[in-house]
Amino acid sequence: MTKDEARSRAAWLRGEISRHRKLYYELDAPEISDYDYDLLEHELRAIEEQFPDLAQSDSPTSKVGGLASQAFAPVRHKSPLLSLENTYDENDLEEWFARLEKLLGGTGHAYTCELKLDGLSVALAYTNGGFSQGATRGDGATGEDVTANLRTIRDIPQKVSAPLHELVVRGEVYMPIKGFLEFNATREEDGLPVFANPRNAAAGSLRQTDPKETARRPLSCFCYQILYSPGFVPTSQFEVLEQLAKWGFPVDPRRRLCRSKEEVLAYCREWTARRHELPYEADGVVIKLDSFQLQQKAGSTAKSPRWAVAFKFPPEQAETTVQRIVLQVGRTGAVTPVADLKPVRLGGVVVSRVSLHNEEELRRKDVREGDTVLIERAGGVIPYLVSVRVDKRPTSARPFRFPPSCPVCGGELHRPEGEAIWRCSNKSCKAQIKEGLRHFASRDAMDIAGLGPALVEQLVESGKVLSLPGLYKLSKAELASLERMGDKSASNLAAQIEASKAKPWEKVLYALGIRQVGEQTAKALARRFPSLKALQAASDEELQSAEGVGPKVASEIRAFLQLDENRRMVEELASLGLKMEGEAAPSGGPLSGLSFVLTGTLASMTRPEATKRLEALGAKVSGSVSAKTSFVVAGSDAGSKLAKARSLGIPVLGEDDLLAMLRGNLSPLAGGDGK
Ligand code: IVH
Repeated sequence: MTKDEARSRAAWLRGEISRHRKLYYELDAPEISDYDYDLLEHELRAIEEQFPDLAQSDSPTSKVGGLASQAFAPVRHKSPLLSLENTYDENDLEEWFARLEKLLGGTGHAYTCELKLDGLSVALAYTNGGFSQGATRGDGATGEDVTANLRTIRDIPQKVSAPLHELVVRGEVYMPIKGFLEFNATREEDGLPVFANPRNAAAGSLRQTDPKETARRPLSCFCYQILYSPGFVPTSQFEVLEQLAKWGFPVDPRRRLCRSKEEVLAYCREWTARRHELPYEADGVVIKLDSFQLQQKAGSTAKSPRWAVAFKFPPEQAETTVQRIVLQVGRTGAVTPVADLKPVRLGGVVVSRVSLHNEEELRRKDVREGDTVLIERAGGVIPYLVSVRVDKRPTSARPFRFPPSCPVCGGELHRPEGEAIWRCSNKSCKAQIKEGLRHFASRDAMDIAGLGPALVEQLVESGKVLSLPGLYKLSKAELASLERMGDKSASNLAAQIEASKAKPWEKVLYALGIRQVGEQTAKALARRFPSLKALQAASDEELQSAEGVGPKVASEIRAFLQLDENRRMVEELASLGLKMEGEAAPSGGPLSGLSFVLTGTLASMTRPEATKRLEALGAKVSGSVSAKTSFVVAGSDAGSKLAKARSLGIPVLGEDDLLAMLRGNLSPLAGGDGK
C-alpha cells in the first residue's frame, strides 16, 4: 500500500469507526457485528503502525468507546475505565505473552482469567459502604449518571461490608440469556422492536429515563475491578475478586487463577468449547497479569492496559440462502415473518430458520426469497440474520409482500397504531389455539411432556381440542384413536394431563398465556394475589404492587380477565380441578416458611421494596409482631414493634443482616444479632 492509499483508507476507516461507535454506544443500534467492527479498528491500527505520521491524536484508535449522551448528567470517573486490546486466536495470544514478557523481563507469571461478559461497563461508587453513585463508561473518562436505574438491579448491593470511606468498583451489567429471550419474545408479541442481542438489550435498559422501566428488565451484574479505594491496597487481581465477593459484590464464580501460560490457554480452550453452557453471553476470555506490582511495571497506553488482553471467541457466523419466507401466527395472534433457510452448521448446531421479527425489520433488511444471507448466533444461542448479500441476489428475487389476511385462518389482519406487528383478530384461529396449547403444556408451565407439537397439531386439526379446558375433557379412547398413538402412550398422556391438575396456582397463571405475563411475573402475581378471585378483584394500583408489574402489564391482565370468554374459560378450568388458589407460602424460596416484620426506617430501600424482595424469596411479611414472627427487621427509629419483639424473644435483624439475607449471604438459621 502506498502512503497515499494508506492515507485515504485511514480517513475512510476513521469515518466508519466513528459512525459505528455512535450507532453502538449512543443509539444502541449497531449495524455490523462486533467482529466486523473489530476488523475495522484492527486495520486502522495496522495502517497507523506502518505509517506512524498518519496517526492522529484524535484518532478513534486512541479513544475509548462512545461519547456520553445528553439525557443523563455527566460523571467524571475517578480513574479512567480503560478498554482492552483483542486477540483472535492462540497465535495472537502467544504474541501478546511474548511482548508482555519482554516488557517485564521475565517469564512464568501468574494470570487471572475471567469470562468477557458481553454487557456494558459501569462504575459503582460506595460511600461508607452504601451505594452512592453509578455511571456508565461513556468515553472512559466521563460517563453518564445512571444511579437510579442501577439501584433497580438486584445483583448490585445497596450496602457492602467494605470498611472504607470511599470505594469505586467496576462491573459489567448484562442481561442473562433466559431473561433476554423472554424479554424479546414479549416485545415481538407487542410489535416493539426487538434487540439483536443481550448486550444491546442491557444497554437500552440501563439508559431508560424511567427507572421503573429498568426495574422490569431482567438485568444482572458481575464486578471485576477496583477503580478507587483509598486506604486499601490489594496486591493482585485474584485477591481483588475474592475480596469483592467477601464484601458482598457479585463476582463471576468462573474466575480462575492460572499459574502458567499453558493454564491460560487451557482456560481459553475450555470456555471456547463450553461457551454455550453459560447463562449469559460471553464474547471471550479476559486475561490479566495477576500481580499488581507487575501490572504497574507493564503500564498502560491511553486506551488499554498492557497487562491485560481479551481473547475473543471465534465468531459464529455463516452464509446460507433463504428458501422461503413464511408467516407464523403466535398465541396472541401476532404474525411473525420467519425465513426458512438452507440448513447450515453454526457453532455446533444446525440452523434452518431465523425470525425476521416483523414487517418493518423485514423491509429494513430487505430480505427476499432466494437471497444469500449472513447469519450469526446472537447471544451464542439464537440465530440472527445480520445482513443480506445484495451482491449475490438472484435477478428474479422480488421484495416480500405481506398478505392482507391471516395465512392460517384467512381472518383479517390488523396492525394497531404505533406497532410494528400485524395481528390476526380471529380468536378461533387454529394457529392461536395450537400455540396457546403448546405454551400451556410447556415445561415451565403445566409440564405435560407427552403433549408435543405434533400431537397438538393433530388434536386441533381433528377438532378434538379447541380450547384449554378441552384438553381435560379428552377421554382415553379419544386419545388412543389418534394416529401413531398406542394404548400405552394414550394412558401415559392421560395420566400426565390428570397430574397437571396438581400444578400450583402460579404455574396455572403462567400457563394461561396472558400477554406480558412471563414466568417471573406470574410468580410475583401469585404471591401477591393468592387466588384467582383476589386477582380478579384487584385494582390497577394493587396489581402494580406486584414485582415486575407496571401499568402496561396491569392493563393486559385486566383486559384478559374482563373478557367474557376468558372468564368462562378460567372458571371451567377451575371446575375441572385446576388450582386457582395458592398454598399458604410459595414453595422453593430460600426464606419460605419464615415470617418477617419490618419496623423503623431503612437506609437503603423503602419498606415496600424490602417487602417485595423478602416475598420474592418466599418469606411472608406481616404488619404486627406475634409469637409466630420469625424475625423483626429494625431500621432506625424503630418503636413499639421492636420492644414487643424483645419481650417475646424474637430475633431482631439490623439492616445489614437483612441485606446479607436478601443476597443469600446470611442463612436465616444464623439468626439476628439480638440488637
Ligand atoms: S477488564 C482495565 N474484565 O470488555 C480493565 N472487562 O473490551 C479493562 N468486560 O470495557 C476491562 N467482562 O466492558 C474486564 N471480566 C472482565 C470483563 C470486561 C467484560 C468488558 C468491559 C470492557 C470490555 C473491553
